[in-house]
Amino acid sequence: MPNALITGWGMYAPSRVMTNDELATMVETSDEWIVTRTGIRERRIAADDETTTTLSVHASRDALAVAGLDPSDLDLVIVGTCSPDYPLPATAVLVATELGATRAAGFDLQAACSGFVFALATGTSFIRSGMYRNVLVIGVEVLSRFINWQDRSTCVLFGDGAGAVVLSASDAPGGLLGAELFSDGTGCEAIIVPAGGSKLPASAETVANKQHAIQMLGNDVYRYATRQMAESASAAVRAAGLTVDDIDQFVFHQANLRIIQNVNKHLGIDEDKVFVNIEKYGNTSAASVPMALAEAVAAGRIQVGDRILMVAFGAGYTAGAAVVEWTADPARAFLAPGSQTRLGKPRTETAALAAAS
Ligand code: ACO
Repeated sequence: MPNALITGWGMYAPSRVMTNDELATMVETSDEWIVTRTGIRERRIAADDETTTTLSVHASRDALAVAGLDPSDLDLVIVGTCSPDYPLPATAVLVATELGATRAAGFDLQAACSGFVFALATGTSFIRSGMYRNVLVIGVEVLSRFINWQDRSTCVLFGDGAGAVVLSASDAPGGLLGAELFSDGTGCEAIIVPAGGSKLPASAETVANKQHAIQMLGNDVYRYATRQMAESASAAVRAAGLTVDDIDQFVFHQANLRIIQNVNKHLGIDEDKVFVNIEKYGNTSAASVPMALAEAVAAGRIQVGDRILMVAFGAGYTAGAAVVEWTADPARAFLAPGSQTRLGKPRTETAALAAAS
C-alpha cells in the first residue's frame, strides 16, 4: 500500500487587514476584550473581487510549485470549505479548471472548521487505495461574507484565508500515521447558518432577519471544543501507535487561544511545541490548520522526520485529528511563487538551490 506524503504546501491570506480597533468602530467591543478572550489582534478580509476559488488558487499554485508538480499531474482536488463560491457547482471544480488541472476530478467537503483534516484523511485514503497518485487538499474560507457585522459575539472571531497541501503516492515511509474523525449532530444549533438550505430556503424574511450569517452559542461551543479537541488528539495519537510525548509539533485549529491553552494543559503538552498564529488571522475555519502548517514550516518549526499533530473542531459538531510524519525539505517553500508560503529566509542560499535541484 503506498503512503501519501505531503510534498507541497502553500497558503494565501488577503492583503486587507482588519484590526480589533477597526471592529470597535463598528460594534460595541474593544481590542482589550477581544485579545483577552480570544488572542485575536487582527484578521484578513477578502477584497470584493476575491472569492473562495481565487484564494484557493493562490495557495494551490504555491503548493504545486513546492511539490514540483504541474497542475496536469493532479488526479483529484478536494476543497474543505463551508463558504463556497456557490451552493453549486462545487468550488473544487472551479479551482481545478482555473489551475489547469485538466485530468483532475474535484469535489467539496463540508465539515466546517474540521474540513481540512477530514479532507487530508480522505485524500490519503484515495492514494492508499491505489486509485490516485497526486491529490491537492485545500482548506479555504471567505467567512467574511457569512458574518452579521452587527453581531459582536461572532464578527470579532472570523477571518478569510486559504491553505493547501499536495499529497503524493510514495513507497517511502511517512505521511498520515493515524487519524480520528468525529461528528455529533446534537451540536447543530450551536454554530449554524440557519437559512439558505432546504430547511429554511432564502427569502426576503431570512435576509431581513440576517439568517444567512453564522449564529453561535459561544459558551457551549467553547466547552465542547475544549473537551473534544483533547479527546480527538489523544485518539489520533493512539491510532498512530504513539504518545503525546512523541509529537514534535502541534498545529491546532486557531479558534480561540484559550481553547488551545486548555487543550495543552489537559494533554500535558509543552507550549514550545505548539504553533500559534491566531493573533494575525482569527478563526479562518477550514483554512486555519493548513495556514498554520505553512507558517510553522516557514518559521523553521518543522523538520524532516518530525511528527505533527493537527487537530480541528467545528460546526456540526465535527472534530478531526491527524498525526503526520513530515518528509519534505522545508527549504522547498522557497520555490513557491507567493510570498506568504516562504515567509522565512533561506538559511543558506545553497539550501534554496538544493531544494530547486
Ligand atoms: N466585545 C465585548 N463584549 C462582548 C463581545 C465582544 N466582541 N462578545 C460578547 N461580549 C460580552 C457578552 O455579551 C457578555 O456580556 P454579559 O456578561 O454582560 O452578558 C460577556 O462579554 C461575556 O460573554 P461570553 O460569551 O461569556 O464570553 P466568553 O469569554 O465565553 O468568550 C467567545 C466568547 C470568545 C465567543 C468564546 O465563547 C469562544 O471562543 N467560543 C468558541 C468559539 C469557537 O471555538 N468556534 C469554533 C467553531 S466555529 C466554526 O466551526 C465555523
